[in-house]
Amino acid sequence: MSWKPSSRITTVSRLWRTLAFRLTAGYALAGLFLVTIAIVSLYLVLESELDKSTDLFLADKVHVLRTMLQERPDDVDALREEIELESAARQYERFYIRLLDDQNTPVLTTPGMADQLDLAQLAGKTKNHSERTIRIKGSNGHAFRVTSALAQVGLSATHTDTVQIAIDVSQKEELLARYRFWFWVILLGAFAIFPLIGYQIARHGIRPVEEMATTARHISSSNLKERIRPEGYPSELASLAGTFNEMLDRLQESFERISRFSADIAHDLRTPVNNIRGEAEVALARARTSGEYRDVIESCLEEAVRLSDLIGDLLFLARAESPLSYLRRERVDVGELLDQVREYYEASAVDGEVSLTAAVASEPVVAELDRTLLQRAVGNLVANALAHTPPGGTVVLSANADVSTVHIEVSDTGIGIPAEALPRVFDRFFRVDSARSHGSGGTGLGLAIVKSIAQLHGGNVEIVSPPGHGTQVTLQMPVLPARQPTM
Ligand SMILES: Nc1ncnc2c1ncn2[C@@H]1O[C@H](COP(=O)(O)OP(=O)(O)O)[C@@H](O)[C@H]1O
Ligand SMILES: [Mg+2]
Repeated sequence: MSWKPSSRITTVSRLWRTLAFRLTAGYALAGLFLVTIAIVSLYLVLESELDKSTDLFLADKVHVLRTMLQERPDDVDALREEIELESAARQYERFYIRLLDDQNTPVLTTPGMADQLDLAQLAGKTKNHSERTIRIKGSNGHAFRVTSALAQVGLSATHTDTVQIAIDVSQKEELLARYRFWFWVILLGAFAIFPLIGYQIARHGIRPVEEMATTARHISSSNLKERIRPEGYPSELASLAGTFNEMLDRLQESFERISRFSADIAHDLRTPVNNIRGEAEVALARARTSGEYRDVIESCLEEAVRLSDLIGDLLFLARAESPLSYLRRERVDVGELLDQVREYYEASAVDGEVSLTAAVASEPVVAELDRTLLQRAVGNLVANALAHTPPGGTVVLSANADVSTVHIEVSDTGIGIPAEALPRVFDRFFRVDSARSHGSGGTGLGLAIVKSIAQLHGGNVEIVSPPGHGTQVTLQMPVLPARQPTM
């Protein structure tokens, strides 16, 4: 299969979408750009400095010769020494001087100049560029910088000579060539190395993100313990990791609550079912009288009622949690409702030798509430109070309202709740003394139901139980504006 252009484009665009690739490309391009700029500018500076130093040397020589011609025009020996001997003695960067009189006839010439340079070309090229330095190529390939200048002979300036100076700059050119060679070597090296360095930096930078992704990938309902360890992360990513860990904490907690809840449900359903099964098995083991059968059936019925109450409570809680649950609000006279609940529990209060009263408010407390749910909530609170108040105690129901809230309170003088258990009493299936409560028929769902009824109304529930002073539970429900009577 050959590569189609379109598939190459998609590969590139897929690569481009990765953060590592973008960072790598960015670092590499920036690095190459800077290296290129640095090398090129250094090269240009070096080249111009070399030219400048050569030109200064030439200007200096011109100046010396001019001075000699002007001040000592007859001292031919000194001139000859300057032109024929001094320059000829140099081994590197040799320079050549030619002195021409006003008829353009050579007067003095550095030996070997004609071998190195095409003198006719030199004269031609420098003729119109008086005192400017130009570059020409010598006969054997060496590069020269040359200049030519006019020089007055004698103080009275009887005539004018021409000085031509050429200096061999091939060594400087070689230096520049070596420099260019290394420039390309360094640039190629940078091409190879910068993407690697950039890739390492990018990898290092995004490693925390990848670790977070790996952790997230490992998380499932059976493995919620995994956490990110943000040591050494940059602070932005450390705070992201912290937020992520907090989310996992919350998830783990609610998962654990749900699985504890399911275990509790299974346990609480099993007990009555086992009881029914045990009774039935014992009853069937041999022939029984009809009275005995009756006892067994009654006992089974009791368990069945317990079971169906429990299932009813669970269903209620499940429905109350659903976002689709709604209230049937109506105008409720709360004082009247408390009295009904009191009446309902009158008999069991008498049985337990507990005084049960509903305190009457001076003004009627009326609010838009769901009557059935409110009855259920208050009923649960009264049942708890009666169950935990020893003979001789009292249970009081009361209600009052301010502008925004209805407060309904159930207080008793009972055994109270230990401080360490108080925060958990609204949890499902929580019982302070589970063995005792279980015997007395409590499932631990009563207060959970009270709380969800309060929350359905947009309210809340609070419980206090100062040691030795019984327990007070307060329901707080917001008062809704009274509905307009329809028709
Ligand atoms: N008025 C009260 N006085 C003392 N303890 C109480 C009172 N109300 C609730 N409790 C404690 O809180 C626990 C949870 O109450 P609840 O949710 O109604 O469950 P249940 O009544 O089924 O045990 C009870 O088991 C009991 O230990
Ligand atoms: Mg209860």
